[in-house]
Amino acid sequence: MDVSVVSREPRADLLAVLVREGAKLPDLGLGDLVDRVAREEEFKGAENAVLSLHTHGKIAAQRLALIGIGREKDAERTLEQLRNAASRAVKLAKAAGAKTLAISSPVTGDRQVQALAEGASLGAYVFDRYKKEKKPFKLQRVQILADKSLTKSARLGVEIAAAVNLARDLVNEPAGKVTPRALADEARKMARAAGLRCDVLSRAQIKKLGMNLFLAVSQGSAQEPQLVRISYDGRGRPVALVGKAITFDSGGLSIKTAQGMEDMKADMAGAAAVIAAMKVVAFLKPPFPVRAYFGACENLPSGTAYKPGDVIAGKNGTSVEVLNTDAEGRLVLADVLSWAVEETPAAVVDLATLTAAILVALGPWITGLFSNHDALATEMLSAAKAAGEPIWRMPLPPEMEELIRSPIADLKNTGGRYGGAINAALFLQHFVGKTPWAHLDIAGPASVDKERGYNPRGGTGAGVRMLIEWIRRRAQA
Ligand code: BES
Ligand code: MN
Ligand code: ZN
Repeated sequence: MDVSVVSREPRADLLAVLVREGAKLPDLGLGDLVDRVAREEEFKGAENAVLSLHTHGKIAAQRLALIGIGREKDAERTLEQLRNAASRAVKLAKAAGAKTLAISSPVTGDRQVQALAEGASLGAYVFDRYKKEKKPFKLQRVQILADKSLTKSARLGVEIAAAVNLARDLVNEPAGKVTPRALADEARKMARAAGLRCDVLSRAQIKKLGMNLFLAVSQGSAQEPQLVRISYDGRGRPVALVGKAITFDSGGLSIKTAQGMEDMKADMAGAAAVIAAMKVVAFLKPPFPVRAYFGACENLPSGTAYKPGDVIAGKNGTSVEVLNTDAEGRLVLADVLSWAVEETPAAVVDLATLTAAILVALGPWITGLFSNHDALATEMLSAAKAAGEPIWRMPLPPEMEELIRSPIADLKNTGGRYGGAINAALFLQHFVGKTPWAHLDIAGPASVDKERGYNPRGGTGAGVRMLIEWIRRRAQA
């Protein structure tokens, strides 16, 4: 599906006209027909409202769909309204068997055109690789009506959406396919295509680096762990991105219930997001270096598995008493974060499907943000808002440290039932030193159980757009 910008209304199988709630309907060359039908159907442009009609050859488009975008609130909300409407337009075009779609929007600045292109490409996503019968997808061309000079913005929107869709694919692929090695191969493949460097380190090299926490998590699995670093070069201090990459989380010996494991192929969504973000970094070419890191492995029980009660010291020397082998993500992240901060990055951001507790706290769609640095937290909140990703800052209360103190080691890997997302974040904080750090707990939004707006059921690519927006802004600053 090709997305482009055209300056005059093209011939199209479907013309989608986005309408603000309460606004006068545009003159579409159909006399008062549109106004009449809108009145009859009580279409007022409310968000998500749709009015479809046949044009019977009276205008260039065969069909017309008015799509409501609701009232104007603020600039960020407008972008989200446009993403949703463009996605809706693509879905209508698909259902109608249209080959070409034109989108006309009441607002068409650079950010708005980018959002329309994003929404169209995100809404077109399907994961049907394993279906015998695939729903036909005839839509070949989406044309956004706007000034031709905005072609660049549409292009950026398409690039971003393609990266999000890559992350979605990686999350949706079953764990039998996306093994640690396969995930490392995907990173290498992306890096090669984008002209980035990618280093993949074997178990022996991980051992040499002293990453015993990472190795402990991986030791119950027959699959070799893989430590991956993707590098984009530039001047000055790098920005570091770290993703959780448990390709399957059974819980290990502290095994999960059957239901608790159903979606644990998605436990590498953080890594999927950083791989995807690096693809766009290569496109954006910020002046500073950007590195992405992940430690990929499976968390499985077996005769060689790590055990509750084990005491292990990782790369930065901090010893950890493992009380629950299902709190594995923080152990792997501890070592990978320790490695990432050795390069003294200007900031390190980790993305992880870290805790079920963040779902209890914030619900299924909101990312939890934790940070040791207020300015960085503010940057991340505002980038997420512009990118249309819901996020909420959570506290890192020092007085809760006692919950993760072990009687026999420096730390333990669980802190009890209450405040589970917070004590996981407090745990990670021990491994970032003084580096400005933001931790994004994406356990909720990374994978969802039903379609919602431009997000499909399953993997959503959560985190990718906010990371890109954050890097884009730092590149401009
Ligand atoms: N990967 C899970 C967290 C998770 C749960 C993500 C549900 C998405 C949906 C993580 O490794 C985990 O198992 N966390 C435990 C920690 C607990 C044992 C301290 C949890 O949150 O229950
Ligand atoms: Mn777990
Ligand atoms: Zn996990």
